[in-house]
Amino acid sequence: MFHLYLNNELAGKLEIDKNQRMSFSYYEAYIDRYSVPVSYAMPLATGIPPTVFHDEVVFPFIENLMPEESMRLKIQKRNNVPEGDLGRLIELMAGDMAGAISILPIGVEPEGRNEAPLTKPKLNKILLDTNSSPFNLDNDNGRRVGLAGAQNKLPVTILNNLIYLTSDKSSTHILKPESEKIEFGQLVYNEFFCMNLCKRVGINTAGASLIEVLNKDGIESDCLSVERYDRNIQGGLVTKIHQEDFCQLNGHLSSKKYDTGIGIDFFDLIAFIKERCISPQLDTKQIVNLYIFNLVIGNRDAHAKNISFLYHNDGGIALAPAYDLVCTEVFDTLSREITMPVNGKATITEINSGDLRSVSEEIGMPYKDFTKNVDLLMESIKGQSQEILHEMEDMNLYEDSIKHIKQILAIIRDNSRILTSILK
Ligand SMILES: Nc1ncnc2c1ncn2[C@@H]1O[C@H](COP(=O)(O)OP(=O)(O)O)[C@@H](O)[C@H]1O
Ligand SMILES: [Mg+2]
Repeated sequence: MFHLYLNNELAGKLEIDKNQRMSFSYYEAYIDRYSVPVSYAMPLATGIPPTVFHDEVVFPFIENLMPEESMRLKIQKRNNVPEGDLGRLIELMAGDMAGAISILPIGVEPEGRNEAPLTKPKLNKILLDTNSSPFNLDNDNGRRVGLAGAQNKLPVTILNNLIYLTSDKSSTHILKPESEKIEFGQLVYNEFFCMNLCKRVGINTAGASLIEVLNKDGIESDCLSVERYDRNIQGGLVTKIHQEDFCQLNGHLSSKKYDTGIGIDFFDLIAFIKERCISPQLDTKQIVNLYIFNLVIGNRDAHAKNISFLYHNDGGIALAPAYDLVCTEVFDTLSREITMPVNGKATITEINSGDLRSVSEEIGMPYKDFTKNVDLLMESIKGQSQEILHEMEDMNLYEDSIKHIKQILAIIRDNSRILTSILK
């Protein structure tokens, strides 16, 4: 049995039986004092005996908190976790996760140990080690950190410019080092460029910067540092804001994130926002702009786990800032299909003006205004991408990195041309 905390407040208990079936129930004291549920699928409700949520809702929620694909396999192998033993993964990782959640063995408190700040060589070594030992979790070192996704990453706490390894206390940033896979060379600079571009064109986006590190060959390189939008720092004190991704909100397992067959279409996302969010107008505008942005920059990885929602203290939800933005189109091995199709259309050349017209109708915007908005956004993307390129040219990066960014700019030009002809 585990205790489940939200922002260090004991919320309920999670039980996993010997067949790995999960159940969850809230403690009454939590329901009396707080309004944020652990999950949309597990609303707060008083009752005697308390409501018990069963495996069909609890399992997808928990599974989606965990790393995915090869990342999960590596962790399992490295720590001798049998396939499917989520209880053991929880024990290893579920201290500091996405949102405000911590799931801890009973008797372990959510307050963390105080670690010394990392020196540069130590940070370098740990980041390199994470290639074989994701999240630096080896040997039950009690660090208990984890995030979803298939890329290598390390949540850290950065306070007053000092970087700390996160144990059970809260991380504030996510470091994403260079990919081990040669075919994804320059990914750090690609993501840095796309994240900053998105922010500059007025879309609410997590902050992203570069941190100098040494790569495995001892050569100076950079890792991406992304500010966590699900953390609030005041006077050195970090509090967590709860979040769920769109897979969790639909009760789908993480392996379904690309599966358009399960019905996650862009219109489902708009419908969800209109129905559930506290500021539907603001959030639909943001999601439409983000959709267009992803079309233009060639990000074909904007699936249901790369869209999240934040909980306000009163339990209301709002679209989270954009994250994990990459021009995937520049990588030859990756699919050209849009991961969240519009009207079932999965490539930019398939989309027609009728599809965009139905998006404008869905968000209640006259098509003329809609096309004007898209035109302005495209102009802004083109202008700002030039500016960021110039700034990156001044950053003393390797020639290959700049070449990669120039390729992205060419993709942006091509996609803008296609989109302009669709709009006509
Ligand atoms: N800036 C952020 N703030 C809070 N949570 C984030 C942020 N960026 C990513 N996450 C969480 O971490 C998970 C993995 O990060 P992501 O950048 O998507 O990695 P990957 O490239 O491996 O998919 C996301 O699914 C989301 O839950
Ligand atoms: Mg992701």
